[in-house]
Amino acid sequence: MNQRASIAVVGSGYVGLVAAACFAEMGHRVICVDNDETKVRMLREGGIPIHEDYLPELLSRNGQNLVEFTTDLRGATHSSDAIFIAVGTPQSEAGSADLSYVDAVASEIARSINSYKVIVEKSTVPVYTNEWIRRVMERNGVPRNLFDVTSNPEFLREGTAVADFLHPDRIVIGAATERAADLLKNIYRPLTSGEYYRGATAVPGPRSQADPPPILLTSTKAAEVIKHASNAFLATKISFINAVANICESVGADVEEVARGMGMDTRIGPKFLRAGIGYGGSCFPKDVAAFRHVAELAGVEFSLLHEVEKINAEQRSRFFQKVRSALWTFRDKKVAVLGLAFKGGTDDIRESPALDIVSMLLHEGCKVSAYDPAAEQRTKELIPPGAQMQYVDDPYAAALDADALLILNDWAEFADLDLERLHSALRFPIIIDGRNLYDPATMNQKGFSYLSVGRPVSSQLADLATTSRLPRQPERHHGIALRDQPFGSA
Ligand code: UGA
Repeated sequence: MNQRASIAVVGSGYVGLVAAACFAEMGHRVICVDNDETKVRMLREGGIPIHEDYLPELLSRNGQNLVEFTTDLRGATHSSDAIFIAVGTPQSEAGSADLSYVDAVASEIARSINSYKVIVEKSTVPVYTNEWIRRVMERNGVPRNLFDVTSNPEFLREGTAVADFLHPDRIVIGAATERAADLLKNIYRPLTSGEYYRGATAVPGPRSQADPPPILLTSTKAAEVIKHASNAFLATKISFINAVANICESVGADVEEVARGMGMDTRIGPKFLRAGIGYGGSCFPKDVAAFRHVAELAGVEFSLLHEVEKINAEQRSRFFQKVRSALWTFRDKKVAVLGLAFKGGTDDIRESPALDIVSMLLHEGCKVSAYDPAAEQRTKELIPPGAQMQYVDDPYAAALDADALLILNDWAEFADLDLERLHSALRFPIIIDGRNLYDPATMNQKGFSYLSVGRPVSSQLADLATTSRLPRQPERHHGIALRDQPFGSA
């Protein structure tokens, strides 16, 4: 039988807010704590600070009864059985995770604790964080029988966060005592028993009553490592396919065919083999660096991770060289940009490869006309609109009189553009696609000069496609700088 638990979630970022909304959706009583008063006020008034499918529905149907927003961590600690720590763990200058927010929250919990609590790490943290939290509690004089510290890493992706949370591949619970593990098992029982999926209003997803998610019980350290290792492995998969894409460009193969062929091997699997302009976001870049740091501390040489980062950084410059090969010079050229967020389906621009490319274009004197369905507001805070940077409301407005159009993230609508309309809007029908959303042959047929990643180029640009075969320092290619090659050199 499912029992309602009282849960505090500390931190109302992507993980915290989604976890709070989903725990309420699963029938628990949730107090969501954040020290940002403006954010708490906004949430109390029904505002939602992030763009995430189903989040508004979940908060409006459960918000009134089951979710409370507050800045009062002490009060939340008193009235909860489990306290999930979902605060930021940003990258420190050394590359390791900065755990000062986790430390501050743990200290405040220690000062407030009045009965047995299970403290749950939900943020991505390096191995040993668990022990540090325990030490903080003990240093503050909290008796050992008043708390357990557990690790319950979250594997949700931004953009599909709610569905990922409620339909997980697995639920990892790292706990040292049965008491703590039982409490967490009870919290997730609506999912693991399949009961949640029976409900008429259940958020749709791959899980069902007949196929509920499994729980994996581990040590706390294993749970911490599972999270870092999973993200690092996924990032490795992406860098791997990007390196393969670069080989494909050189030898004239299509990386999409290669990825399909590799992915059909069940040991490899088809996911996270999409070549492009590299990974970004608030997780992979930070977590690969943090895991590399963990390896260093453990005395393990894990230089593979360094290569993963290197390939990822180079992927952006390679793409930029492609743009250069198509435009020749940049100054005063107008470039249409589709996509600002680090991927489609989110408004998050942290570590966005798209923004890096936009910055490079602006730096070279281009005029950029950008469209993103959700990330415009956040980008404006970083790059205010002006003579060089313009924000528009749809892809066709972006394309109007542009010298080329770049596709920089994978919003579904970018894969479904009205190509005729786009063709007539552009000054020159050049598309450089950093996410391989279109078929090169079709684009060619429709009259576009189309460049993408790791695939054959359309004929008009073929003579410039040497770009992709150039060594990393284009200046050294037969002594001719790429930027000196004229566009359409007929
Ligand atoms: C990632 C993980 O996928 C989640 O499992 C994890 O919970 C999360 O980090 C986290 O640690 O919080 P997220 O950063 O939201 O989720 O986004 P992803 O969908 O994983 O994409 C990350 C980046 O990789 C994006 O820039 C995306 O465009 C890129 N990517 C992804 C590729 O370039 N190719 C692919 O095949 C897949």
